[in-house]
Amino acid sequence: MKKILVKGGKKLNGEVNISSAKNAVLPIIASSILCGDTCIIDNAPMLEDVFVISEVLKSINSNINIEDNKIIIDNSNLTNVEPDSDLVRKMRASFLIMGAMISRFGKFKISLPGGCNIGNRPIDLHLKGFSALGAEINFGHGYVEAHANKLVGNKIYLDFPSVGATENIMMAAVLAEGDTVLENAAEEPEIQDLANFLNSMGAKINGAGTDTIKITGVKELKGTQYKPIPDRIEAGTFMVAAAITRGKIKINGINEQHLKPIIAKLREIGVCMEKVDDGIIIDGNNDFKPIDIKTMPYPGFPTDMQPQMMSLLATINGTSVITETIFENRFMHIGEINRMGGNIKIDGRCAVIEGVDCLTGCEVKATDLRAGAALIIAGLAAGGYTTIGDIYHIDRGYVSIEEKFKKLGADIERIEVD
Ligand code: UD1
Repeated sequence: MKKILVKGGKKLNGEVNISSAKNAVLPIIASSILCGDTCIIDNAPMLEDVFVISEVLKSINSNINIEDNKIIIDNSNLTNVEPDSDLVRKMRASFLIMGAMISRFGKFKISLPGGCNIGNRPIDLHLKGFSALGAEINFGHGYVEAHANKLVGNKIYLDFPSVGATENIMMAAVLAEGDTVLENAAEEPEIQDLANFLNSMGAKINGAGTDTIKITGVKELKGTQYKPIPDRIEAGTFMVAAAITRGKIKINGINEQHLKPIIAKLREIGVCMEKVDDGIIIDGNNDFKPIDIKTMPYPGFPTDMQPQMMSLLATINGTSVITETIFENRFMHIGEINRMGGNIKIDGRCAVIEGVDCLTGCEVKATDLRAGAALIIAGLAAGGYTTIGDIYHIDRGYVSIEEKFKKLGADIERIEVD
C-alpha cells in the first residue's frame, strides 16, 4: 500500500509549473465522441481520472493513444452503446459521456456513476436537460437508459448551475436540430474551455462562461487539436501551500483571471501576491488573520479549494468560518485535521475554525481528492511526520504531486507500507 510521508517545517521556495485542468480535460475527452475524425489534446495531465475516462471510451471501442502528454482519440469505430460499468462506477465524470452518446447514437445505457465521497451528487439536472431535448429516460437495476430518434433544441433552465449538467447538456445540444438556450448555466472556466474545444470542431456555441449559453445545432463536427486551460485548483493548492509554510514561490502557467476568488481570499488573510508574465509570486512571510469563506458557483469561491483553505485557516490565530454551500458532505477532512491538533467544529454547513499555534504530524487518511491535498498542506506546516493514507484519491487529480512539492524544497515522499 502506498502512502505519502511529509516532514513538516520547511518553507517552500522555488518555482512550480501548473498542469492542464483535470476538470477541463475530462469533458473534452467525453465530447470527442461527437466526432468521427481524430482529435488531439495537447499538454494533457497524466492523471488517474484521465486514464479512467480514456478506459471508459475504450470500452465503447474508441481508439485512444496517450503518449508524452498528448492524447490522440479516434472515435471513427464506436459501436458499443454500453460502457464498462466497473469503470463507470470508478469515476463520476464518466457520466459526462452520456450527452454525446445520445446525440451520436440515439441510445445509451450507463451504470449510475460513482466518484468522490462528498455528498449525494444526483444527476437529475442532466437527465431533465436530455428529456427537454427529446430523449426518453428510463431507470432500473442501477442503470440509466436513454433513447431518442433525434434531439431537437429547446429552452432549458437549470434549477442549479451544475457544472456537469451544463457540460452534458451542451454536448447533447451541439448536433441537435435547431437552437438550444441553456439558462442559469454554470459559468466555470472549464465550461468555456469545453465550448472553445467544440467550436474548434465546428460547433456553434455562444455565451459559455456566462449564465446563458446558446447552442445552434450543426450537422457534424470535424477533428481538432487543442490545448486545455491550466488547472486553477492545482495552482490554488500550491498558493495555499506556500502561504501555510510562510514560503515564497513562483507558480508558472496560470490564468490569473480564473484564480480571482482564491487570490481575493488569500489577500484578505494577508498573503502577498505579485503577477509576473504568465505566473504569480506568492509570499507567505507576513502576519495572517482569520477570515470567513463561503463556497459558491464560479465566480464565487470554489468548493474544490475549501479543504486546502481549511488547513491554512487551522493554523491562523483567531476564529474563521467556512460555509460549504455546494456539497452537503464535504467536511470529512475536518476529523483528520483535528487529529493533527486542529480545533474545528462543524455546525451544519458551517465549519468554525479556531486557529492553533501549531499542528502536529500523525497518521491521517485522504477521504477524497481535495481533502488529500489539504492533508499534505497541513503536513507541510505540522511539527514532525504526517503519513497520509488512501492516496489514490490524490492521484486522481494531481500530477506528480510529491515531486512538485519536493522541487519546492518540501520534505515529502511516497512510501510503500504493508
Ligand atoms: C464538478 C467538478 C468538481 C467540482 C464541482 C463543483 C468535474 C469533473 N468535477 O463536479 O470537481 O467540485 O463541479 O464546482 O468538473 N446537482 C444536482 N443535480 C444534478 C447535478 C448536480 O442537484 O443533476 C448538485 C450536486 O449535488 C451538488 C451541486 O449540484 O450539490 C454541484 O454539482 P455539480 O456542479 O454538478 O458538480 P459536478 O459537475 O459533479
